[in-house]
Amino acid sequence: MNLREKCPIIHFDDLGDERGKLVVIEGGQSIPFDVKRVFYIYDSDDTVVRGQHANRESEFVLINVAGRSKVRITDGEEEFVAELDRPMTGVYIPKMIWKDMYDFSKDSILLVLASTHYDGTEYIRDYEEYLKEVKKK
Ligand code: TYD
Repeated sequence: MNLREKCPIIHFDDLGDERGKLVVIEGGQSIPFDVKRVFYIYDSDDTVVRGQHANRESEFVLINVAGRSKVRITDGEEEFVAELDRPMTGVYIPKMIWKDMYDFSKDSILLVLASTHYDGTEYIRDYEEYLKEVKKK
């Protein structure tokens, strides 16, 4: 499986009508895990890079529910950039994938759905350490 297949862009159904749009994300249905945690990142801009880590245990779906940002995704071999700029589209990031989020528009609200409760010890924040661990697999 190549990296884009491992980290697919997911298009959610729009249940909107003349009253406005409605997007529903059901854990285990439109995304491949049950959601245990939700967080969102806003008030970032195009000068910062966030993320810069991989997670040994967590899976994520990232959605720009407002504005736009980019996510650079790598498994240590391949790399691609997901451009998130619509509330109906997200990117799935499985375990042990390195990600950097950047180029946030001023109005960006980046919603993150996670498969785990927060545990800082499952983060790998050193890229050399990540390469070592990912190559063992
Ligand atoms: P960090 O992982 O640096 O954010 P990002 O991935 O966007 O770069 O997290 C920033 C701070 O917030 C850090 O002190 C850890 C804390 N945090 C939690 O307590 N719970 C969480 O679910 C997340 C994502 C972060």
